[in-house]
Amino acid sequence: MENFEKNIEQPPKWRYNNPENERRYRENNLEWLFTQTYLPPEKRDSSYESKLFLYLEKIAERKRQMFDDLDTTDAELIIQKYYTQGDLNKEEVKIKKILDLGCGPGFFIDDILSRNNEVYGLDDQINIRDLSEKLHSHIKQGDFTKEIPFNESFDLILFSSSIEHTVLDGKKEEAKEAIRLALKKLSPNGEIKIFPIRNYADVFEPDNLKYENENRQEYTLTDIKNIKQARSLWDEILQELKEEGIIDYEIKPIDFDVHTISYEYYLVELLTIKHPPKQLNK
Ligand SMILES: C[S@@+](CC[C@H](N)C(=O)[O-])C[C@H]1O[C@@H](n2cnc3c(N)ncnc32)[C@H](O)[C@@H]1O
Repeated sequence: MENFEKNIEQPPKWRYNNPENERRYRENNLEWLFTQTYLPPEKRDSSYESKLFLYLEKIAERKRQMFDDLDTTDAELIIQKYYTQGDLNKEEVKIKKILDLGCGPGFFIDDILSRNNEVYGLDDQINIRDLSEKLHSHIKQGDFTKEIPFNESFDLILFSSSIEHTVLDGKKEEAKEAIRLALKKLSPNGEIKIFPIRNYADVFEPDNLKYENENRQEYTLTDIKNIKQARSLWDEILQELKEEGIIDYEIKPIDFDVHTISYEYYLVELLTIKHPPKQLNK
């Protein structure tokens, strides 16, 4: 039975801010693929694996082209990642006050500075003197697990490929502290966006893999153990911060990805954290 058909009465499960994410989601019927991926294997449609792998091959091809295109710089790829994996749209980025935690050399900050002066970054490995002069007053050197040395509050706080390393290293308390510190700098209706959260799909585990075609041997399998551990550590972190009553959060799938060198697959998710709604005083 084909349950691929969209029920037009049904509202979409996930909505995207970035029009490009929204387009890709519709064109590839990603709602179906994401929903199936989150189901236990025995509940999935029999066509799931072949459809998933067809899509993964499409992504691998898109990435190959992107990397073969010598005109695309690393900076452009990183900036694109912020918009896609952070599900950001160009309009909000112009008007929000933004803090980029673990900003690296500041490619994203540099890109939006001409449209929005209210964008700042923090990185512990950066030497401010190595940055272009216009970034000097926008980027500080420091460790986001210890202190976030800005006095103002922000509408959008981003951790792009930064806190991920803390979690992959199993440093739960440090990651929680970084989120607590970021919450103190978050405006009442602001959002903290953390990406990529990498999730495994059990379909990639060798014992579960049934799909075969001529491209199959090109791919190796995701380092399931690491991704699995980091993903369940995220669940613990979020559960504990929620029990402290200091966060509300949502995790939504953005896309599947294939590592360009090792050809490992994973599901890319975006974690959005907000202040919880204020309890009404009785
Ligand atoms: C992989 S790079 C990502 C850079 C950029 N955000 C991006 O998405 O391309 C990770 C960056 O996070 C920074 N970082 C990691 N842990 C940090 C911490 N505890 N405090 C401040 N910066 C940190 C590193 O110094 C590095 O520049």
